[in-house]
Amino acid sequence: MPVPKHEYVSEVWKDGIFANKVIFCTGGAGTICSMQVRAFVHLGANACIVGRKVEKTEQAAKDLETARAGAKVLGIGEVDVRKYEDLAKAAEKCVKELGGIDFVIAGAAGNFLASINQLSPNAFKTVIDIDVIGSYNTLKATLPYLLKSAEKCKSDGLTPSPNGTGGRIIFISATMHYMGQALQTHVNAAKAGVDALSVAVAIEQGPFGITSNVISPGAIAGTEGFARLSKKGTDPMKSPRIPLGRVGTVRDIADATVYLFSDAGSYVNGEVLYDYIADSNSIVDGGAWHVSGTQ
Ligand code: HXC
Repeated sequence: MPVPKHEYVSEVWKDGIFANKVIFCTGGAGTICSMQVRAFVHLGANACIVGRKVEKTEQAAKDLETARAGAKVLGIGEVDVRKYEDLAKAAEKCVKELGGIDFVIAGAAGNFLASINQLSPNAFKTVIDIDVIGSYNTLKATLPYLLKSAEKCKSDGLTPSPNGTGGRIIFISATMHYMGQALQTHVNAAKAGVDALSVAVAIEQGPFGITSNVISPGAIAGTEGFARLSKKGTDPMKSPRIPLGRVGTVRDIADATVYLFSDAGSYVNGEVLYDYIADSNSIVDGGAWHVSGTQ
């Protein structure tokens, strides 16, 4: 039974806006990333998702193909983002089978709750390796293709390119490190690195037509992170911290991603879009940052 469009992307986005485009996504079988990819496939793109688990990744790719008749979604398993060679091979295969890479979502992440006393040096390093090194490896392996796409989609900034948009990357971060979160020292340190990586890429590669941005999902209903971090016995849907009165959904994240990769997001570069908890520059936080209190 196909998932109805409105469950993963807003009806305001026109079908076909990403026709002939290819999106490459790490962690693409996960709850948030698979909905981001589904939105693009529905709106015309083909996709390549990569992950560590073969069966899970291939099954997710098959499911994603149902988002649009004629869609091609490549699922490549046995890709560990900590290994550059795995990503380089996957990117090459994607280009060979789908014709290029226009957009990248660096979404793979490692996480578990543990205090600094319980974290072994290897446990801390493991999360840094997955989140920071994995994001770098994803960028490094796909950048040559993103540069080609950006070149093809060059516009004067005032007139949209007839070839649409391309050469864009989004890193998936988190919100907890902006305030600090217990049992998450490893993740807080890693996500700060991911944010900094993106801003530097935006500045360095912007002149070549690349845009690099971060989406920081906070509490997103239906995710593993949400289940783990929600306080037992409280109803997060009624959190007084969120002026809009609801937690985020995977659709909120997919919509933000579509915006950033669409022509509407052409001048957004080096930004961090937050959900749930944000600073005063936030765009998709429900206004939560303005309410005092702890998470
Ligand atoms: C303490 C732990 C641990 C735990 C693993 N380790 N789990 N230490 N508490 N719960 C330690 C191990 O003992 C080991 O250290 C080291 O970490 C590496 O573990 P391995 O299992 O060998 O590594 P690996 O198979 O590579 O798996 C790494 C992993 C991974 C990070 C645990 O399985 C994973 O990513 N799982 C969860 C994925 C996930 O939740 N993704 C969604 C992210 S959402 P030693 O010293 O023993 O060798 C998100 C948003 C925020 O990030 C969510 C908020 C919660």
